[in-house]
Amino acid sequence: MSAKKKDKSSAETMVKKEREVSKAKLIPVHIMGKRYDVPEGLTLMKAMEYAGYKFIRGCGCRGGTCGACGTVYRKPGDYRLQVALACQKTIEPDMHITQIPFFPANRAHYEFADLTSAPEEVFKLYPELFRCVACNACTKACPQGIEVMDAVSALKQGNITVAAQIGFECIQCGLCTSRCFGELVQYHMFQLARRIYGARITPRAEHLIEMTKAIDEGRFDNTLEKLRHMSEEELKELYRKREEEPVTAGEDWRPKDKTYL
Ligand code: SF4
Ligand code: SF4
Ligand code: FES
Repeated sequence: MSAKKKDKSSAETMVKKEREVSKAKLIPVHIMGKRYDVPEGLTLMKAMEYAGYKFIRGCGCRGGTCGACGTVYRKPGDYRLQVALACQKTIEPDMHITQIPFFPANRAHYEFADLTSAPEEVFKLYPELFRCVACNACTKACPQGIEVMDAVSALKQGNITVAAQIGFECIQCGLCTSRCFGELVQYHMFQLARRIYGARITPRAEHLIEMTKAIDEGRFDNTLEKLRHMSEEELKELYRKREEEPVTAGEDWRPKDKTYL
């Protein structure tokens, strides 16, 4: 599709979406204590934007992966405060919403080069780990479905590997911390566990060491030089003609043409 046609089609899609929004039923929500009527079906983030808020912080990917949009809400008739990612949660009538643009959580300072894989490395830097009362509020708050309390328990036992594996998909949104009775900062602890696991516990990848050595020794210098001097069209042609890896290929798959390997 030409750039002109593409622009036209995305403009049409936008107009269509705007029409759909304008036709949607309006429902009341309370944003930072003020009532607004917004189209139903919007996410908390879009509802706030519809009401006139402009995000200059607290918004990144809009797809549930950057962890920037932690938000607190309460439903009518429910005494409980709940948390969610504003870009993922859909509004409900009479919800009260407030965003948490930044969490001033405690983050330990350390020189990573001085750390080892010893079991006590994480709890030495975060002794508050032992204030955990095993209430599981953190797990219930996690939009990633991580068993947060289990990872905290693993850290208390000095099992950095298990903690790093359980907390692997943490997006650092801080929602677990916002609900924690023990004032723990689970996401910084998990990040430290993942760093130690990656750098000190998992075995070195031999093939990676060999490849970086080959790069340092100039094995690809000529090839890179050749690519650098190609025109944009030549590069595109090369890309179009590339041999694609089949979806079912195993770990040992290699292209027939090894010129660029
Ligand atoms: S573990 Fe905590 S910081 Fe990480 S994704 Fe879950 S709630 Fe967010
Ligand atoms: S919310 Fe805090 S105190 Fe409760 S289980 Fe999780 S880490 Fe422990
Ligand atoms: S904006 Fe990235 S998770 Fe919501």
